[in-house]
Amino acid sequence: MQLSELIGFYRGSSLWQPHSWQSRTARQQPEWESRGALSAVTEQLGRFPGLVGPREIEALKHQIADAGVGRRFILQGGDCAERFQDCREDLIRGKMRILMQMSLVMGYAGRRPIIPIGRMAGQYAKPRSESVERVGDGTILPIFRGESVNSFDATTSARRSDPLRLLQAYHTSSATLNFIRILMGSGFGDLQHMDAWDLGTIKKGAYWKRYEQIAAGLRDALAFISNVSNVSSTQGVTPESTLRGYGFKDFYVSHEALLLPYEEALTRFVPEMGRHYNLSTHMLWIGDRTRELDGAHVEYCRGVGNPVGIKVSAETDIPDLLDVIARINSHNEVGKVTLITRLGSSEVRTKLPSMIRAVRESGFAVTWSVDPMHGNTVRTADGRKTRRFESVVDEIHGSFEAHRSEGSHLGGIHLEMTSDDVTECTGGAAGVTDSDLERRYETWCDPRLNGAQSLEIAFVTAACLRGEYSRRLN
Ligand code: PEP
Ligand code: CO
Repeated sequence: MQLSELIGFYRGSSLWQPHSWQSRTARQQPEWESRGALSAVTEQLGRFPGLVGPREIEALKHQIADAGVGRRFILQGGDCAERFQDCREDLIRGKMRILMQMSLVMGYAGRRPIIPIGRMAGQYAKPRSESVERVGDGTILPIFRGESVNSFDATTSARRSDPLRLLQAYHTSSATLNFIRILMGSGFGDLQHMDAWDLGTIKKGAYWKRYEQIAAGLRDALAFISNVSNVSSTQGVTPESTLRGYGFKDFYVSHEALLLPYEEALTRFVPEMGRHYNLSTHMLWIGDRTRELDGAHVEYCRGVGNPVGIKVSAETDIPDLLDVIARINSHNEVGKVTLITRLGSSEVRTKLPSMIRAVRESGFAVTWSVDPMHGNTVRTADGRKTRRFESVVDEIHGSFEAHRSEGSHLGGIHLEMTSDDVTECTGGAAGVTDSDLERRYETWCDPRLNGAQSLEIAFVTAACLRGEYSRRLN
């Protein structure tokens, strides 16, 4: 940052403080059992070390800026609601495997460097449409708001909003991220280790063959590069060392900035950078239910140096959205704002083009991403929440079409997904039907794409990145 920008930055945000959101209305906050207990917890969180570093955050922001102009592509994905009990090596490794496989497909077949960002290591709080729910025996219970707040168990005591859970969220995020760092630090993202990304569950999927073809092609290419570099080597033939380092080195994490006492407690002023950062995660996003201009979430997010996603739905008023962007990014810093559109397959083609035009005319630099999940939620005849794979694909196609027709770039995709062979979304090459849903419907919140469906989406997206989105792959 130039000195003049720095001065401008201080002037512009002189009224911002990590706690300034407290004077605004904060939607979607739980009724914490005890304010005293909440303060004790946030004081403790305020003394804990950050989980990520400001330079990592800045590096991600630069990459997101590149995605905004079509030079990279964001793959952001993970559970709707992470669970404390899933903080296990095998499950974290599984999530990393599918994200690496998808990055490989999208990077290779889509010919674009991929930025992998997990909805991981902190995605423990959920905004909800209803504050209560009626369970089997007719009892009305407070709704489950994510494990940072209450328990999924359907009893009155389990649904109490307990501030001590915020400590558990911090520790579980820390352990998850630590394991991610171990994996990435030991070369998990290297292409020479791509065999370690194999997932048993995906082999059944129709796209597995195509994945294997790409992997085989890459192995050949790497062997060739190794041979070429060995031609002039005086060290003897060393395939191992010449190939080390080709692949994915960075992995970022993100979560919804929802529970503001938690986010505030993990916000630190970093003197070397001259600004505040939320050091609990690399990227934050503001959900569709908390995007009000004068609300607490927008106030909080405008003051931190982290990149911020803003969910945009079909109901979003465009002038309001422009005001929100201007408030969050008053200095028009590139890479700061990612607009994550979740318009639904039925509205994307009618709503997205005018949004793109309005944002362009505003002069604010944004990176566009698509969340093809949240605008395509439907219920089956027996009331189960699901998403049709075809609608997800259609919204992806519609988004690419709109950006192309407006001369803009779609810079990323945001997915609710898992590596497991769950049955939560219908369709895809594996043909999950409504009657399959009860077999492995394991999510604690929204339905996720399973491993095979996720890999298939990577192929669909890669084809779109090459400009082949008007016809379905198959
Ligand atoms: C989510 O990403 O889980 C979510 C709740 O999305 P949205 O705010 O777009 O509804
Ligand atoms: Co969700």
